[in-house]
Amino acid sequence: MEFKTWLNSKIKITEKHLDIYLPLKDNRQKAIYESMRYSLFAGGKRIRPVLMMETFNMFNDNENSIMPFACAIEMIHTYSLIHDDLPAMDDDDFRRGKSTNHKVYGDALAILAGDGLLNKAFETVLNNISTIAIPAEKILKSLEILSNSSGTEGMIGGQVTDMFVEERNLEYLEYMHKLKTGALIKAACEIGATAGGATEEEISKLSDYAHYLGLAFQVKDDILDFTADEEELGKPIGSDEKNDKLTYVTLLGLEKSQEILEDYTDKAVSSLEIFGERAERLREIAEYLLKRKN
Ligand code: IPE
Ligand code: IPE
Ligand code: MG
Ligand code: MG
Ligand code: MG
Repeated sequence: MEFKTWLNSKIKITEKHLDIYLPLKDNRQKAIYESMRYSLFAGGKRIRPVLMMETFNMFNDNENSIMPFACAIEMIHTYSLIHDDLPAMDDDDFRRGKSTNHKVYGDALAILAGDGLLNKAFETVLNNISTIAIPAEKILKSLEILSNSSGTEGMIGGQVTDMFVEERNLEYLEYMHKLKTGALIKAACEIGATAGGATEEEISKLSDYAHYLGLAFQVKDDILDFTADEEELGKPIGSDEKNDKLTYVTLLGLEKSQEILEDYTDKAVSSLEIFGERAERLREIAEYLLKRKN
């Protein structure tokens, strides 16, 4: 199957499950369900669920078992975007091709929708445990990875180093990117492989792949903030410059950033050697992310 067709089929499965796990509710707090679903179904590349599904499928073909985790990581990612766009953070008005959550629902509901999505991620796994045909210790390990990668030693920690930059150098920048973006991408692959039943060596190689892919992902995000077409990107360009952010482009310029992006992508792909043909989709994902326009 052609890569794009395959990718779209995985996105479709993800969105079908998101809809099942987070339905609208007609109760007194229905506004929060509307607001959560507004951002969750606004589009998005769904790259974290896709990575998790594929690293799982390399070892286990019962895809339904990984869907609660795949949707959980997308909920956490979406919450991080809602909060990232708030006036107190990046103050952006446009996301996934639509007005940002707080522009539509106001800051209070946007904050609560973010909180709600974070909580919903763990509810989704725990409330659907009976559909997960994975040994209990692997479910627990996966929950451990998910919570740690989202927290103060993961994505939240990265957002703190992004908001309160202490040093403008490459070492600081890599630390920040590793946490704010790398952590969830790494978690996606580690959970997929762990839950799927990969060996320690296989998990470690996939973790290396995801580490470099995560860094590459944020370098590309930084480049797109300068070079993309806003309509195509679905979020504002020039946001980093507006906020005087520390990014690859603001520190090193476009040309050097592009070199680093290609180098990280090569390193990601090199980590897949032991898998041979089995990792073909993961190679295609790396190539797709390298060339993406949004
Ligand atoms: C944007 O993530 C924020 C970063 C971590 C760089 P994505 O580029 O994955 O955003 P969506 O999910 O496709 O909207
Ligand atoms: C945010 O990085 C990463 C998150 C954890 C949300 P950015 O602030 O660069 O993400 P965009 O460019 O707004 O998507
Ligand atoms: Mg930000
Ligand atoms: Mg931002
Ligand atoms: Mg950005």
